[in-house]
Amino acid sequence: PAGRVQDALARPLHDLRISVTDRCNFRCVYCMPKEVFDKDYPYLPHSSLLSFEEITRVARLFVEHGVEKLRLTGGEPLLRKDIERLVAMLRELKTPSGRPLDLTLTTNASLLARKARSLKDAGLDRVTVSLDALDDATFRRMNDVDFAVSDVLEGLDAAHAAGLGPIKVNMVVKRGMNDDQILPMARHFKGSPFILRFIEFMDVGASNGWNMADVVPSSEVVRRIGAEMPLEPIAANYSGETAERWRYTDGGGEIGLISSVTQAFCHDCSRIRLSTEGKLYTCLFATRGHDVRALLREGRSDLEISNAIAQLWRVRADRYSETRTINTAGLVRGERKVEMSYIGG
Ligand code: GTP
Ligand code: 5AD
Ligand code: SF4
Ligand code: SF4
Repeated sequence: PAGRVQDALARPLHDLRISVTDRCNFRCVYCMPKEVFDKDYPYLPHSSLLSFEEITRVARLFVEHGVEKLRLTGGEPLLRKDIERLVAMLRELKTPSGRPLDLTLTTNASLLARKARSLKDAGLDRVTVSLDALDDATFRRMNDVDFAVSDVLEGLDAAHAAGLGPIKVNMVVKRGMNDDQILPMARHFKGSPFILRFIEFMDVGASNGWNMADVVPSSEVVRRIGAEMPLEPIAANYSGETAERWRYTDGGGEIGLISSVTQAFCHDCSRIRLSTEGKLYTCLFATRGHDVRALLREGRSDLEISNAIAQLWRVRADRYSETRTINTAGLVRGERKVEMSYIGG
């Protein structure tokens, strides 16, 4: 085994996020706005995509370097044909000390009711579901494809019944759009098996028209919920966790706050991302990836690819959220940032 590798800021590598498709059947206004992601949008051709064998090989090399969590993302990962086969292949991987990996997936739940059982059977541990409102009209405005809340709730129930937990529900909060849903969402999920997490609207990509005025700071979310249902902070589950955890003092469970804008968490960021076409990104806000697909298809050995991966992590010094300025406008040092649907949430 290659052993644990640390980056230039002494951060370990813990979490590999794998985007399996750049397509999605939703058009969330903060992620894939319709005006940009229209029928002429240049999605990746099938030949560009990493095969399941290629993904598994890269994942295996990362696991040898200390990765313990794999997250499948997209776009919408359940749109990738035979995704269960990939899940089963990744399930076979073991950490150097023989422990199983944490194998999870982020989904909009549109196909979850249909697939929860087969995903569980293939070896998936858990899912995280995106849901931005409980009010149907608001949710339809956010996903912009007329998808109903009830269908997401059905997917959540199916995932719970299949044992794909602990299940988290992610709500991106955009001021004036769905911030009136903070309390209804909190009330709905309080005391349920689902952990609701509020995410500050971020300036990822270059097409979502991000503006600081649209961000609802997590401190405000905690204040608004706490005024009705008292909360207290609790310790993180693990170092490098994105969410800050709070629990209801009456025992109604916990919520999470993901505050990448107002309280950046780069200092212990241990995540690397593999894009659909096999580029590695050491930050969500990167403008350029590192082409691992080329290495795979040039016939390089495991050792060569393994060394390249380790070197990439060793020189990593990204901490975008800690250094962002208000004037980002989709650019980093004059270069266009990659889209979240391409790099993976
Ligand atoms: P758990 O393993 O369940 O704790 O999940 P997680 O928090 O690692 O991952 P999840 O996919 O649930 O992340 C939730 C959201 O947090 C993402 O959709 C992003 O909006 C945001 N996020 C995750 N990782 C990063 C990151 O490295 N940087 C920034 N800025 N935001 C991130
Ligand atoms: N800001 C914050 N989170 C985002 N996501 C996508 N775009 C953004 C953004 N601009 C995240 C959400 C969603 C997941 C798939 O990607 O968490 O649930
Ligand atoms: Fe699709 Fe998720 Fe992006 Fe919404 S946030 S458009 S569901 S990938
Ligand atoms: Fe990690 Fe980059 Fe996000 Fe900071 S902005 S937490 S370095 S992915």
